[in-house]
Amino acid sequence: MIIAPSLLAANFARLATEVQRVQRSGGDWLHLDIMDGHFVPNISFGPGVVAAVRPLTKMTFDVHLMCSQPEILLEPFARAGADRMTVHIELDGKVNSLIWKIRSLGKQVGLAINPPTAMSSVKPFLDRIDSLLIMTVNPGFGGQGFITECLPKIQQAAAWRRKLGLKFRIAVDGGIHFQTVASCASAGADTFISGTGLFEHKNLKAAVAKMRKLIHPYAATHASV
Ligand code: DX5
Ligand code: ZN
Repeated sequence: MIIAPSLLAANFARLATEVQRVQRSGGDWLHLDIMDGHFVPNISFGPGVVAAVRPLTKMTFDVHLMCSQPEILLEPFARAGADRMTVHIELDGKVNSLIWKIRSLGKQVGLAINPPTAMSSVKPFLDRIDSLLIMTVNPGFGGQGFITECLPKIQQAAAWRRKLGLKFRIAVDGGIHFQTVASCASAGADTFISGTGLFEHKNLKAAVAKMRKLIHPYAATHASV
């Protein structure tokens, strides 16, 4: 089970301290949300910021590209220190070449799906990805409410993974906090991205530990990943 605090919820006025806080929190990956003001109605930060914080920690950098043209950003983010890069299935015809490009850069491949998008769209790519990121809010902003209707998508992903004998991780992102994390784990998620749900607690380490405790009962079911 992976817990990935999302830097979007950090205090940007003291980014270095916040990254070090995540590093000490016991979180597994640092989730970095890249928003381009086009694919989503918000702008976050770019490869320069990622490169600047890269020397501060050895944590896995999990870069989530909510961008219309990720093809022009893959190399810059790879150079900036991304370990994993996730692109969106809503980019349709581009997805195949994006997956290939991420792989050719030697990075782990993630594929994300928005709440309104049908799961059938990701099925052809499941044997080529390292993680499927099921958005549990409409992307663009932190602090939104968890969309419960997304739970069957997690179950569907877990069923396909079992049936096809695949090993991709099943990640959830958006509105993940103490009240919602267990339902995702129970549905089959093994990777939990959380911004507000962790950063709203003064003691980030205690919050990560509590979240880990809440998903622990489901760990055995996901032992293979
Ligand atoms: C949403 C981003 C998320 C965001 C989650 O568009 O992809 O990673 O940081 O924030 P919370 O956990 O606050 O919903
Ligand atoms: Zn994200």
